[in-house]
Amino acid sequence: MIVEDFIPKSSSKSIEKGSFTWSSPSNIALVKYWGKKAHQIPENPSISFTLNNCKTTTTLSFSKKETNNSFSFEVYLDDEKKDDFKPKIETFFKRVEVYLPFLKDYHFKIETSNTFPHSSGIASSASGMSALALCLMSIEKTLSPSISEESFTKKASFLARLGSGSACRSLEGNLVVWGKHIEIDGSSDLFGVKYPYQVHQNFKNYQDTILLVDKGEKQVSSTLGHNLMHDHPFAQERFKQANKNLSDIISILKTGDLDKFIALVESEALTLHAMMMTSMPYFILMKPNTLEILNKIWAYRNTSGSKVCFTLDAGANVHVLYPENEAAQVLEFIQNELVAYCQNGQYICDVIGLGANKM
Ligand code: DP6
Repeated sequence: MIVEDFIPKSSSKSIEKGSFTWSSPSNIALVKYWGKKAHQIPENPSISFTLNNCKTTTTLSFSKKETNNSFSFEVYLDDEKKDDFKPKIETFFKRVEVYLPFLKDYHFKIETSNTFPHSSGIASSASGMSALALCLMSIEKTLSPSISEESFTKKASFLARLGSGSACRSLEGNLVVWGKHIEIDGSSDLFGVKYPYQVHQNFKNYQDTILLVDKGEKQVSSTLGHNLMHDHPFAQERFKQANKNLSDIISILKTGDLDKFIALVESEALTLHAMMMTSMPYFILMKPNTLEILNKIWAYRNTSGSKVCFTLDAGANVHVLYPENEAAQVLEFIQNELVAYCQNGQYICDVIGLGANKM
């Protein structure tokens, strides 16, 4: 598909007002997206587990307005007006206007809430932007009812990407690939696709316990972070490595080889942070407690033979990943040895999930 395919022909129906609600989860990348070209095109393909419990629920109410020369919207988080969210949404609207020609015809009220604490350091952009994109697609479907379910999801992912790249991986479960990769049929730079190949039972209900090490505002916004990959001395090697890791993960997912899975996933996490440490300007996004946790996980793995591992986002929090059959032991280990390193002892238990839902 090409970008032009997402520009609607003409709509057959009209609607004065209404409202739609979608709930959409966050996701955690195994092979990371870090670095992008113009128009939110990723420098390398990525793959993520869709989460189940960390979600954003968004209600989009809309009513026709008199004039259609500008965007008109208001945003609420947990019933509180959030004008500081507006610039990001305005940018999103500008990027998607050509694909949703009705955007300036309506006034929108966007009401959103997260299941995870705001400012927990958990990015709400993936869940938030995917939920908003789905609500907008529900309007498009009302105007053009013939759109198929498949095209609906594909375009919603395409739009979500223009809000936040990783958001395009949040619509479906439980493994999603975004970015063209020669070995993955149907993969595209324009939208996320469900991972199309065999996945071993070992990964069924895979657990993700998110340790909230630092709940502060992100030190480096993702936009700034991605930009650091321009002119980065190791960028091209990194993009090559991500492509290779995506090739390698295909057989890992098929055979259920957890040792290889651990090595690949932890290496990806540390490489992401290494890229930030070796850019100009440079950043260390881990905190001392992040390192304490990684060392504890390695020590526990050595002594117990557990298949627990970690991954990281562009921040200090740690995602602890482990198979379902180890859930009880690993949770005990987390409570006994890791929670002490979390801010206010906070952590969130999640598991891989199936994607977004219309409410
Ligand atoms: C480290 O999707 O937040 O989480 O496209 O600028 O909104 P923008 O970036 P964003 O970047 C996420 C980066 C990451 C890795 C990943 O999720 O693949």
